Amino acid sequence: RSCVLVGAPVQIGAGQPGCLMGPDAFRTAGLGRALESLGHGVEDLGNCAPAPLPERSHPNKAIKNLTETAGWVQSLTEAAYAAKQGGRTPIFLGGDHALAAGTLPGIAKAAKEDGRELFVLWLDAHSDYHDLDSTESGNLHGVPVAYFTGRKGFDGYFPELDVPVKPENITMMGIRSVDPAEHRELLNQPIEVVDMRAIDEKGVSALLADFLKRVEDADGVIHVSLDVDFLDPEIAPAVGTTVPGGATFREAHLIMEKLCDSGRVGSLDLVELNPFLDERGKTARLMVDLTASLFGRKVMDRPTRSY
Ligand code: ARG
Ligand code: MN
Ligand code: MN
Ligand code: MN
Repeated sequence: RSCVLVGAPVQIGAGQPGCLMGPDAFRTAGLGRALESLGHGVEDLGNCAPAPLPERSHPNKAIKNLTETAGWVQSLTEAAYAAKQGGRTPIFLGGDHALAAGTLPGIAKAAKEDGRELFVLWLDAHSDYHDLDSTESGNLHGVPVAYFTGRKGFDGYFPELDVPVKPENITMMGIRSVDPAEHRELLNQPIEVVDMRAIDEKGVSALLADFLKRVEDADGVIHVSLDVDFLDPEIAPAVGTTVPGGATFREAHLIMEKLCDSGRVGSLDLVELNPFLDERGKTARLMVDLTASLFGRKVMDRPTRSY
């Protein structure tokens, strides 16, 4: 594969500073070297910056950093679309999850032009499904899914959405923190929400197989959006929004290995790493190791059928 690393040091969408340092922590933890050791080409495009936009404000006074977030959405939409050209595999180094409001519209536009059906695997403790009216924290990392699926209420605040992501093509996994307003809206949508109970009952392997079957039936391509807080805080403390009871080390690696086997992952967000909260780089290293599993690192190199 030809991988492109795109730094997206967005931190204004999160409730506390620190995600600004995320892209450099991923580089320091050896993301590029890990991909190269697996035989992939790696080009690091450096970090993006937000587009300068005219000041805007929303009636919901809780909202923080609206103008700058909209600027990030605009620049990252363009960066993601450009990074996807030429059959390359973009990896977006976050940055908080507001960045997915930019990466997904760009990836969706590229997929549409390639005539490919886009699917999203959203690995997160949170559904990030607020709109601008319903967010109470005002932290805009809580709204990207509502925006990129084309829900109302973003017009005039975020850039106009070119190609929305189909809600029926989205699977959220690891979910264990959903605000009441998000819950109401999720019940009206065909987004698949795999909460932690479903994982406990059925296991990630079977649940992921269902998702991959749908992708294969549509001959689709997958964008993976991996929030650090998908993982249990014991193994991944470097995030401002930890929620107990997250995915284990084994579950997370198994998901990555099965995604790799599918051969259908076309792009990846690595988000919400706050290096200021890490313990001697352990979360950054785990995220790099998970990415390595996603891109082909395995214990035994053998076909799946021999299990
Ligand atoms: N639902 C909460 C909020 O809107 C938490 C969102 C956390 N999102 C994230 N990307 N970590 O404030
Ligand atoms: Mn998130
Ligand atoms: Mn989260
Ligand atoms: Mn709209």
